[in-house]
Amino acid sequence: MSSISSPSLPTATVATIAAHEGQTVTLAGWVHHKTEKGKLIFIMLRDGSGYIQGVLFKKNVSEETFVAGQRLTQESSCALTGLVRPDQRAPGGYELEIQEIVVFQVAQNYPIAPKEHGTEFLMEHRHLWVRSSKQRALLRVRAEVIAAAQEWLNAQGFVRFDTPILTATSAEGTTNLFATEYFDLGRAYLAQTGQLYVEAGLMSFGKVYCFGPTFRAEKSKTRRHLTEFWMIEPEVAFATHEDNLVLQEQFVSAIVQRVLERCADDLHTLERDRSVLEATAPPFPRMTYDDALALIAKHHHEVEHCTPLAWGDDLGAPHETVIARQFDRPVFVERFPSALKAFYMEPDPARPDVGLCADLLAPEGYGEIIGGSQRIHDVALLEQRIRAHGLNLADYEWYLDLRRYGSVPHSGFGMGIERCVAWIAGTHHVREAIPFPRMLYRLYP
Ligand code: 4AD
Ligand code: MG
Repeated sequence: MSSISSPSLPTATVATIAAHEGQTVTLAGWVHHKTEKGKLIFIMLRDGSGYIQGVLFKKNVSEETFVAGQRLTQESSCALTGLVRPDQRAPGGYELEIQEIVVFQVAQNYPIAPKEHGTEFLMEHRHLWVRSSKQRALLRVRAEVIAAAQEWLNAQGFVRFDTPILTATSAEGTTNLFATEYFDLGRAYLAQTGQLYVEAGLMSFGKVYCFGPTFRAEKSKTRRHLTEFWMIEPEVAFATHEDNLVLQEQFVSAIVQRVLERCADDLHTLERDRSVLEATAPPFPRMTYDDALALIAKHHHEVEHCTPLAWGDDLGAPHETVIARQFDRPVFVERFPSALKAFYMEPDPARPDVGLCADLLAPEGYGEIIGGSQRIHDVALLEQRIRAHGLNLADYEWYLDLRRYGSVPHSGFGMGIERCVAWIAGTHHVREAIPFPRMLYRLYP
């Protein structure tokens, strides 16, 4: 039996409960858990902003109210009216002495019991799992990372410039595109990056960024890969590769700092070691791809599946782990062989077989969180690279126009939100760093 009484707005929230000490307030939310001890019922209420324990004494309330309390189950929705009392032992320092209960709905057999479930089961119930304490903490860290990233860029004079999700061409290689039919215009692809478009914005505003979902039809099942992930991509006119690295270390440090300040409780819930995050300050160590190969040759036995590499081989996850563990903060690996990277990267003038590019590797084996580069600004060289990558020049005419009309040296980068959140929150797999992950074998819920 469930009864939805006419809802009315609660008069307080858990987050601001201290301001209501000694007052009678209404808090609305969900039953996180409940314990009954005869004439006494403890209801842990989650109201969205936090948790508070409600205490229901049989002798203090009407028979009807006590029965309502008895009917409540895990995740039932209700409004509790009661007196706010300070209590040293209570989680947030306050307790609610319940006087009245409105039951919105009684949840029957909530599937996620307070016991250990396998990840597959939890992923299948992701729509409910997002209510649990650790997931709430993780997703709050995500929200803070996103807010911090955008607000920091805005404060530095960047203009947000939204880029399309349906695109006619590839920007990061043709092997991992999601395609769809687009009316009479042939094929459209889901954007792998907003970069090429954000480069158009930069010629208009100087400093821009795009932020949105990006798609990669990658058949990888690693803990770092999603098929749909969110990327924030700043792009700056007249910025060199060097400027780009400085911007990245300031950006990442500012984000980490803000999460440390504003998500202390969440990091505590996640049992995150703060010391690693506290070490995240500029300057970040840098090494070239060549140095990285030498380091791997020396340390490869320290990590499983880490084979030595020959020049021209790409770094895999074990290689990134070996490199990252030599440092206490994120590390740049710069100047990769051009052949390993996208067509638009500016070659190193001193050594044209490598690009003016860098990957930023997070500590503790979280891998690459940022990829970036200086962009080719010479129209002839860009044409040559587009052809060399087997791409159709006609598709990139608009992009080439950016080099025909007022071309300038410029640089930018893209940070994957989920990789960054997984690292900051210290969660093993990126799938928990987004509300509804899309992966090779997951499209539900
Ligand atoms: O290195 P990537 O492919 O770079 C670009 O897309 C550039 N256009 C960015 C730019 O310069 N504007 O991707 C950038 C970042 C990676 O470092 C990683 O954090 C994230 O995007 N990323 C993924 N995250 C989750 N799942 C995947 N499959 C990802 N692929 C890339
Ligand atoms: Mg990359």
